[in-house]
Amino acid sequence: MKTSTHEIGNRIYRLSTCVPDAAPGGFTFNQFLMDADEPLLFHTGPRRMFPLVSEAVARIVPLERLRWIAFGHVESDECGAMNEFLAAAPRAEVAHGALGCMVSLDDLCDRPPRKLADGEVIDLGGKRVRHIDTPHVPHNWEARVLFEETTGTLFCGDLFTHAGDGPAITDSDIVGPALAAEELFHATSISPVIGQTIRRLAELEPRALALMHGSSTRTRCRESLIQLADAYDQLTARL
Ligand SMILES: [Fe+2]
Ligand SMILES: [Fe+2]
Repeated sequence: MKTSTHEIGNRIYRLSTCVPDAAPGGFTFNQFLMDADEPLLFHTGPRRMFPLVSEAVARIVPLERLRWIAFGHVESDECGAMNEFLAAAPRAEVAHGALGCMVSLDDLCDRPPRKLADGEVIDLGGKRVRHIDTPHVPHNWEARVLFEETTGTLFCGDLFTHAGDGPAITDSDIVGPALAAEELFHATSISPVIGQTIRRLAELEPRALALMHGSSTRTRCRESLIQLADAYDQLTARL
């Protein structure tokens, strides 16, 4: 396996590692590094991927300069290597929603995490990230997304997850492949809140969607979120 790096927005880097056997056509695990005065890594990758991911980070910023470690929710691909990164970066803090800190991260993190309120912004110096709680969407009580305000980039975590080792950025439809992956994995917590939560993200009118699994996009972002919300509403209605 190798980790490839692509700048998907101004000083926003996608660090992508494809695991060939995880899905038909492979399955990407994408970390995102925001290079700012206070660099932020969104997702750490699993613990066993730390050598690959940390090497990719270090090609852009020295590891010890990492200031923030963030992720969508508590699962090994999102945050398995957080303590390895905390050890490598003495000034780094995990930043997550207050609920996720209370339920899991106060205990799991080797240093106390920074607790964020819904809508709270961290000024990274050159980038501004807004924390948005999305409980149970796409899964896990402590789920959240991040919105980077200067580039309009929504860090979607597992939303729009799709298989394959596609390009870093695509102009193609991402909703169809996401629904196909949903049929394969059943990874989303199908509940009445999902449609309204995703529609709330569409109201941000993001200019880019950064996906943890699959290709990111800079086209039809708002429309794709609304389509995804509609599709999940239809799934919910069938329950
Ligand atoms: Fe997940
Ligand atoms: Fe994930």
